[in-house]
Amino acid sequence: MTTAGPLAVPQAIRARRSIRHYLPDPLPEEQLTELLALALEAPSSWNVQARSVVVVSDREGRDALSRAAGGQPQPREAPVTLVFVASSQSWRGDLSDIYEQARGNGAWNEEFVADFSRATLDFQHDLEKRGLLREYAVKDAVIAATYAMVAAASMGLASSPMNGWDETEVKKVVGIDDREDREDLHIALLLPVGRPAERRGHPGRRPLARNAFDARYGRGYGQGYGSDCRTLPAPGAGSDFTSAPGSTSVPDFTSAPGSTSVPDFASAPDFASAPDLASAPAHPSVRDADSGSDADADADSARGTRPAGTSVSAP
Ligand SMILES: Cc1cc2nc3c(=O)[nH]c(=O)nc-3n(C[C@H](O)[C@H](O)[C@H](O)COP(=O)(O)O)c2cc1C
Repeated sequence: MTTAGPLAVPQAIRARRSIRHYLPDPLPEEQLTELLALALEAPSSWNVQARSVVVVSDREGRDALSRAAGGQPQPREAPVTLVFVASSQSWRGDLSDIYEQARGNGAWNEEFVADFSRATLDFQHDLEKRGLLREYAVKDAVIAATYAMVAAASMGLASSPMNGWDETEVKKVVGIDDREDREDLHIALLLPVGRPAERRGHPGRRPLARNAFDARYGRGYGQGYGSDCRTLPAPGAGSDFTSAPGSTSVPDFTSAPGSTSVPDFASAPDFASAPDLASAPAHPSVRDADSGSDADADADSARGTRPAGTSVSAP
């Protein structure tokens, strides 16, 4: 048995997959603490750190999160689900600890703190006028969740970013619903984390030049990455893949009204050569994503069967 250390960032990013089935093994506390610390190393707008994480590991909470997510199995099966919460009003609170810490670290001096703290408030008031406070706080939270995903992969852990849930229900699980004085709190993302009980192939990404542009939106970035990408149509001729009206090439899973047929990624074809995220010793109950087992089918059939009238959007 090998005792591999953490994966380097590029390897962790490439090895990460969204995993839907988990082994029940709890995460060692030390590993979980490190994961949280790495997640919260993420940058945040003005370093206000308008995001936090609620760790849900108790049976009841995990089951409730699964229900809030239309029956998706990840929170129920994973030993821990990290609920990333954005706070759109935290800038109004006392930020002196943030400034003291930066001063203490020698990162910011007195003069910088004076200017920065004033500018922070000006910026936030402007966001408020434009109705963007929530959006900015959610950005902070999602960046922290992204750090957690990569950190988890580097530790050989699986995770699954989740956007398909009912916000009111998730808030109840993490104890926000009854705090009327904190209407500024928003659920940004759920991230179940644990050891994988399935292998998933890389579904692939479009060529770099399809979504990376050279100085002008729509002008495919291609040098050194496959110049064939440069032959994409010019802007206005269908090269704007996100906003082309009537484009049917990008399925929009989030906004399909009344859709109950969330695509089932478990039936994706096997990619036998996909890197094994866990690089952990094979576990007898690890199964392939396309095994088509009854257990898989049961768990997956639950996904998408959301309570009527809720605003679940997935994935
Ligand atoms: C913001 C976000 C929300 C997602 N929500 C869900 C979800 O609710 N359920 C799910 O099974 N997968 C969800 N996914 C996973 C995507 O389906 C997955 O990332 C995509 O198919 C690509 O697969 P990969 O992550 O293995 O590369 C979500 C991904 C993102 C980034």
